[in-house]
Parts: sequence; structure tokens; C-alpha cells
Amino acid sequence: MLLALIVALLSLPSSSSSLSPPSSLFGSFPAAAEDAVFAVTRRFNECPLPGKVSCGVGAYRDSQGRPFVLPSVASARAALAALPAGGWTHEYQPIGGPPAFAEAAQGLAFGPLLAGLAPRLGSVQSLSGTGALHLAVSLYAKFSPVGKVLFSDPTWGNHEAMFEAAGLEASTYRYLDPATPTTPSLDFAGLKEDLLSAPEGALVLLQACAHNPTGVDPSPEQWREIAAVCEERKLVPLLDNAYQGFASGCVETDAFAVRLFAERKIPCFVACSFAKNMGLYGERVGVLHVVAEDGEARDNAVSQLKIVARTTYSNPPSFGGRIVEGVLGDAGRREQWEEDLRGMAGRIVQMRERLRDGLERETGSSWKHITDQIGMFSYTGLTKEQVKACEEKGVFMLASGRVSMAGLNDANVDATAKVMADAIKGSSV
Ligand SMILES: Cc1ncc(COP(=O)(O)O)c(C=O)c1O
Repeated sequence: MLLALIVALLSLPSSSSSLSPPSSLFGSFPAAAEDAVFAVTRRFNECPLPGKVSCGVGAYRDSQGRPFVLPSVASARAALAALPAGGWTHEYQPIGGPPAFAEAAQGLAFGPLLAGLAPRLGSVQSLSGTGALHLAVSLYAKFSPVGKVLFSDPTWGNHEAMFEAAGLEASTYRYLDPATPTTPSLDFAGLKEDLLSAPEGALVLLQACAHNPTGVDPSPEQWREIAAVCEERKLVPLLDNAYQGFASGCVETDAFAVRLFAERKIPCFVACSFAKNMGLYGERVGVLHVVAEDGEARDNAVSQLKIVARTTYSNPPSFGGRIVEGVLGDAGRREQWEEDLRGMAGRIVQMRERLRDGLERETGSSWKHITDQIGMFSYTGLTKEQVKACEEKGVFMLASGRVSMAGLNDANVDATAKVMADAIKGSSV
């Protein structure tokens, strides 16, 4: 009888057996810091100064500072809207995305290599570039016995956070030359030395083009050496391909590193985003490609990636994917898109020249690194204090001194150069 009572008491649900439940479950969770990039946008929106300049978040703006819908994308959107009833429904998509989307995305990333690569290439549609990275990192974390990852110092802030969330042991490889802090350039010897001493089987995050935040990319020859080191050390490259077409204005040129690894038959991940090169930021459309050793390895990897997808968001959204298919799969729109890309990249190059001119005029020293760097960002070399002084005058950038060039236009570039120059002069007195 007593024994039955004890058993009954022990089997009561824990909430009713606990005498002092926590006063607030959610209140007991520690608050997390606000995301650094979106915090800059928030402060920009709150700033009352007229003529304020937003160079924080990496989103393209037109010459009037407005968000930009690419004409090729607008055309694909109009074609979707014009479909007869039933032509486009809101059904679930396959977990890995539709085959037509995967084929279009593979063609863009691998171009002429695709035919030879197809038997060992697998692709899973993702929630933009971040989602593609998440799929790759989750797969590696789940199955790699090594569990280590290397990334450039510095890198995009979300990389490290993602590695930490996946429980990987993360470390950095050198990227910028410490001898030239105010005119950032690549420390290739340091980078190579660090990759050479990386443990076999480690994941290595490499940004395929338009390195964020520095705008400093390896040369083709340096890429060849990086690929050779990855091969020699049996590293697992994770190529973050978030800016294809945005760096040079040409999707083929910007695909150099991705195609180099594929051509050398180095098993790797390629995480692609259509946020920047199609301006589809909020649609969350991207893809993770797996270049595997053979067809069986590819099938294993893709089957596991689908498990990761299924247990996090289940199925990818369809709208953005349909737009991408509509742009890449139609010869006229594809041509228009390449024109759109040249236009965006060209405007950014012009802004680099204008900012450099303005800074050289205001400071009397060389700002050549601004025009040497490529892609959406410029790593100015400004210190945290100088960045703060700029923000007080209404020019917003990341604390690292990273400027999103897309935030500049004819109307604000000279004033921005003046604010930056004043901040530099102010900190040197
Ligand atoms: C280097 C890099 N990788 C990946 C991403 C992911 O972008 P999204 O998830 O918007 O495609 C970004 C966005 O800024 C980035 O800069």
C-alpha cells in the first residue's frame, strides 16, 4: 500500500510535484545582444538629422537612394502574375526545391563545367545565402568527426555566430595585412600558412568573391594556391557565394573560385544567395550545392540535407524561386539581368571613385584602397571612435569601418567624404 503511494507520487507530472516553480520562465532567459548590422539600421531610422546617410546594411540602393527592383526581376514577376488561374498555385514545394530551380542555379554557378559535374552534383534550395550556409554547417557538424572550422579574420559577423550555434570549434585564418591597417590589403602569406596548419578534415569558410567586410579578394593565382592547399590538407571548403555578379558586374568572372574548386574535383559546399545579385533580399531565395566525390556520396549528402531542411523549415518558399527560374530560364530576361548587374556594379565603382576623390581632397593622403577593393563593401580603415564621430554627423557604417558603397550616391558622396575626413582629423588632434 505504502509502496503504491510512493510510486503514484513519483509518477506525477514534474510541474505539479515542484513546490517552487520559477516565477518567470522566459524572464530567466538571458537577453541577447542586438544584431550589429540591423542595430545600425535602427539607429539610422531613429536619427533626426536631415541628409543622413545609410552605409550599414548590405542592400543595393539606386542613384536616388531608393531600394531597387531589377527590371529583369520585375519582368519575371509580371509574367508570374499574368499566368492563368491554376498556373501558379501555393502548393508545398519539394523539400529540396523544384528540379527546374536547381538546374537553373547549377548552370549559373558552374557554367560550362555543369555537364561533367552533374553526376556528382547535388543541390538543395535554401532560405537565401544564410540558409544555404546553415544547411552546410549543420550537415558538417552532425557527421564530421573533426568538428572544426576556420574562417577569415575578419569575416561577415553571422559566420562565427552560426559556427558557434552548431557547436563547432572555430578559429580564424589571417586575412588582412597588419602592417597596413589604414589601407587594408591581403596577407596572403599569413592566410596560406594558417590553412597549411589547419587540421585535416576541417571545414574552411572561403568567400568566393566580393569579400565581406573587406572588399579584398585573392587574385586568380592566389586562389589556385588556396585550392592546392585545401587539396593537400584535405580541408572541406565551404564557398560562400553571396555576391556572384556583384563584384565585377559579370557572373562568369565572379564564378572563378567556385569553378576552380569544382574543376579540380575538390569535394566542397557552395552556398549561393540571390539576395544581392537579383535584389531578392526579403524573398529568401538561395541554394546549397554539394560537389561530391561521386553519385552515391552526393545522394547521401542530399538526403541528409533534406532532413536538416525538414526539421527546421520543412519546405522552401516558392515565390522567389519562381522569379529566379523566370530570370535564368528565359533568354531575354537573362540578358536584361546581366545588364542590370553591370548597372549596379558600375554605379558602385563610380561611387568608389567619387569617395576616393573626396577623401583625397579632404585629407591630402592616398585612398587608393577604396578603388582597389571590390563588391558592395569598402573597408575604410576608420577606427571605432572615428565611426562614432561619423554617426554623430549622420553618416552610418559598421563599427569595423565597413561602408556599404550602395548607400552612396551623387547627392551624398562628397558630404560623406567630408564627414569621414573630419572624423579622422578630429581623432588625430
Ligand atoms: C558574406 C555573406 N554571406 C552570406 C550572406 C547571406 O545573405 P542572405 O541570407 O541575405 O542571402 C551575406 C549577407 O550579407 C554575406 O555578406
